[in-house]
Amino acid sequence: QRFLLEVHDLVDSTNTRLTRAAAEGAPSGTCVAAELQEGGRGRRGRTWVSALGAGLTFSLLWRFSQGAAGLSGLSLAVGVGLGRALKEAGAKDVALKWPNDVLHRHRKLAGILIELQGEMLGPSAAIIGIGLNVRLPEGAAAAIGQPVADLSGILPGQINRSQLLALLLRHLGDVLSEFERDGFNALREEWVAQHAYHGKLVNLILPDGSSREATVLGVAEDGTLLAEAGEGLQRFSSAEISLRGV
Ligand code: BTN
Repeated sequence: QRFLLEVHDLVDSTNTRLTRAAAEGAPSGTCVAAELQEGGRGRRGRTWVSALGAGLTFSLLWRFSQGAAGLSGLSLAVGVGLGRALKEAGAKDVALKWPNDVLHRHRKLAGILIELQGEMLGPSAAIIGIGLNVRLPEGAAAAIGQPVADLSGILPGQINRSQLLALLLRHLGDVLSEFERDGFNALREEWVAQHAYHGKLVNLILPDGSSREATVLGVAEDGTLLAEAGEGLQRFSSAEISLRGV
């Protein structure tokens, strides 16, 4: 896999920038990275804030021959790729949180925002945005409003962000090729083995803010969460619910 890397000092959002490039025909493997984002976006309309030099913020374009309808599970596959890369970098105690957060000891280390282009059935393209905390400034956790971790607190020595980006891209390329060829099912066990909440009692948060307790039993071949919430085994999609530890 060849990657085409575009590095900016400042952009609105690398996802937005790459979405535009994709519409203009940028090839699969194009990566847009930025030192700073003015309008970094997270899932569910949240913002992604990161200070200068504090993280790695980039987006990778991947073109698929299958339609967007066949890409369920993609965000989990990307989590597997990040997990492999962080492990190779020497990070221990890294886990995944359904659907696609990367945690270190229950603190958020990285987030993934995937946006799809194209038809449900025709060829499609995914804009895979990743924000990884590398060295957060003092007090960042309070501003972010949830427990966060950064790589500098996990790995000894200086972290070379260029090398880290190369490592991440290599693993993402591998996992995306595997996903394209065999689907998420081939990565499912590897994903579940890293799930921070596997077999645990959690709160499932519904869009209206209400919650119910459930025990996490795994993920299905389409990436939906399998959980037991008192009425037998049920599937939950990330559009419907989010998960919180109890
Ligand atoms: C989340 O956890 O809610 C996902 C966060 C994703 C943030 C990254 S940073 C690079 C890319 N550009 C964006 O605007 N968002 C993603």
